[in-house]
Amino acid sequence: MSHNRAFNFSAGPSMLPLPVIEDVAANLSNYQGCGESVMEMSHRSKEFKAILAEAEQNLRDIMNIPDNYKVMFLQGGGTLQFAMVPMNLLRKSGKADYIITGSWAKKAAKEAKKFGDIKIVASSEESTFSYIPEVKKEDFREDADYVHITLNNTIYGTHYPYIPDTGDIPLVADMSSCILSEEVDVTKFGLIYAGAQKNVAPAGVTIVIMREDLIGFAKDNVPTYLDYKVHAENDSAYNTPNCFAIYVAGEVFKHIKSIGGVPAMHDLDVEKAKKLYDYIDSSQLYTCPVREQDRSLMNVVFVTGDADLDKKFVAEGKAIGLHNLNGHRSIGGMRASIYNAMPMEGVDALIDFMKKFEAENK
Ligand SMILES: Cc1ncc(COP(=O)(O)O)c(C=O)c1O
Repeated sequence: MSHNRAFNFSAGPSMLPLPVIEDVAANLSNYQGCGESVMEMSHRSKEFKAILAEAEQNLRDIMNIPDNYKVMFLQGGGTLQFAMVPMNLLRKSGKADYIITGSWAKKAAKEAKKFGDIKIVASSEESTFSYIPEVKKEDFREDADYVHITLNNTIYGTHYPYIPDTGDIPLVADMSSCILSEEVDVTKFGLIYAGAQKNVAPAGVTIVIMREDLIGFAKDNVPTYLDYKVHAENDSAYNTPNCFAIYVAGEVFKHIKSIGGVPAMHDLDVEKAKKLYDYIDSSQLYTCPVREQDRSLMNVVFVTGDADLDKKFVAEGKAIGLHNLNGHRSIGGMRASIYNAMPMEGVDALIDFMKKFEAENK
């Protein structure tokens, strides 16, 4: 283990790439010799403006974001997006269709119901969200203002194996727990949002990527901060943004670029997840409740079938530097979140521990 660091399997905030942390540390009190820390810097300074512009450009490069999409770095997490999306996108019929694939999708729909006519088009709740429903274009209301999905379901360990075809209806996706782990065709989406604290940066910044023609429809009573137009027109600096988190995000984008971009990151993520799922499927003790084709590369959920044994597993893992292996408090069991920054070494150490635990607890 480098630097006595644990392998942190938390669902978020989670591990950041060590080279980024070290570079940030080296520049912490005096950023690139300018005499100030990024933590102290004015968001209107030329140094910070350069950090912000470079972060946006690097994100555009690694995600192939077309010119007709705006990139915004906001605050309020994924949770504020649950409200901002309906407040800005319910612009014609006032109707939106949601697919419910977990607790976050449910929360997004619940929030949207405060603002319009929300229809749940499909849900896998009857099976504890263990799969992703198949939804066809005909399932959506023709006059829906948008369709909302949660691409990766952090708590239940599922991920869409397909992008729903919504025809001309803008598709909105919460990519909080999978952004930058796979190539996505941005043109298939009207709006993408992602809280940064899993694959991108410390908590406190949220990425929004939005097709320009959808901007500018917030009603007059929408608070200024919650109108995307305000942020789009002011390059994410209408008010004081989370400068430090944006800076770290920019360093992570550069890091991803340096290792071969999102496709190289994805290959590594596939290799890590495959190793772990293959071991779980071959073991007598652990099972993964998720349908095979819908399994997440980022959040690997498993159980022993005995809640006390699960607790023992989590405690013994923690004692040897494998942190936060507990499942979400709402479902229990175990969850290993193996985001982009989790090294292969961490997955190997987890599998070794799982084997030993299995042998000792037959
Ligand atoms: C998929 C997804 N959406 C939204 C959220 C909520 O994010 P935040 O805590 O940034 O508001 C989370 C948090 O884990 C998440 O996993």
